[in-house]
Amino acid sequence: MIYPMKSRQIQGVKMDDFKVYVTRKIPESGLQMLEEGCGEVYIRESEEPVSKDELIEDISNYRGLLCLLTDSIDSEVLEAATDLRIVANYAVGYDNIDVTAASRLGIMVTNTPGILSDTTADMAWALLMSCARRVVEADGFVRSGSFKRWEPKLLLGYDVNGKTLGIIGFGRIGRTLALRASGFNMRVIYHDIERAPEGVEEELGAEYVDLDSLIASADFISLHTPLTERTHHLIAKPQLEAMKPSAILINTSRGPVVDEAALSEALGAGGIAAAGLDVFEDEPKVNPELLDLTNIVLTPHIGSASIETRAKMSEMAARNILAAMKGETPPNLVNREALG
Ligand code: GLV
Ligand code: GLV
Repeated sequence: MIYPMKSRQIQGVKMDDFKVYVTRKIPESGLQMLEEGCGEVYIRESEEPVSKDELIEDISNYRGLLCLLTDSIDSEVLEAATDLRIVANYAVGYDNIDVTAASRLGIMVTNTPGILSDTTADMAWALLMSCARRVVEADGFVRSGSFKRWEPKLLLGYDVNGKTLGIIGFGRIGRTLALRASGFNMRVIYHDIERAPEGVEEELGAEYVDLDSLIASADFISLHTPLTERTHHLIAKPQLEAMKPSAILINTSRGPVVDEAALSEALGAGGIAAAGLDVFEDEPKVNPELLDLTNIVLTPHIGSASIETRAKMSEMAARNILAAMKGETPPNLVNREALG
């Protein structure tokens, strides 16, 4: 099949002609906006993620697709979607979408940046505190009836205050995490492929360092990069070996940024002190070796999962689709190339 380049970015179409496919039930507020604004909204009822075959079969008549980070929107899906103009991801990360293919086909891709930064940084902070003070382990201790008496050396953890926080990936979420650290009197160092403007560094009290220095000197390392070829296994055996034995690693970005096998080995051998993971290499599967460790806190990809933020994400995704319907540039477009 041959598709004329960028032919899809014509004027807005009549509302009646603009059909939207939503792969899963997301919070109501955005769905309501779509139902009021678009000709037809199909909301999949199933609790199971949509399969690629189902999507390929169903998507051809739709102009808008609202999808989740668990939906793989690859070139095959995009090519089958002959009417599609916009893919609105209900997430800030969009490694689940083949953006290059979308751009080639003139399909806009949008995400949900900004509104979830505080919520996700809070989750990273919750994991950091839980790991440092062994909250989950301690909870298990009490529940199992092991709490017999106050003990001078029971469940000793690490202080957070006064320590060095190393942030890898200094975008919106990374910077928002830096704000949390100031209340704990921490030194904040960061690494990113792009250095932040001086004003931002000053305001956040954050110091730019190269990746090796960050890894070797941070007490807490928190990951906030997107998943790209460059960040895949950014934290692997050599990096884990270079960390302090007392280091605590937090990942709320994407699972494959960390080599899980190397991490479980490092945690088991005392190479680093602890880890907090909200994301996994092969979600929803979790490496069984991680499950056997006590010095790790595991949560099921809930970084942005607050009632308030998930509603805002729903509305933001809807606004992007409604803008596309009107022939406007969606506010959170990630591929300007699609516009030709
Ligand atoms: C969640 O992981 C997101 O990218 O929004
Ligand atoms: C995501 O919003 C980021 O830039 O960190």
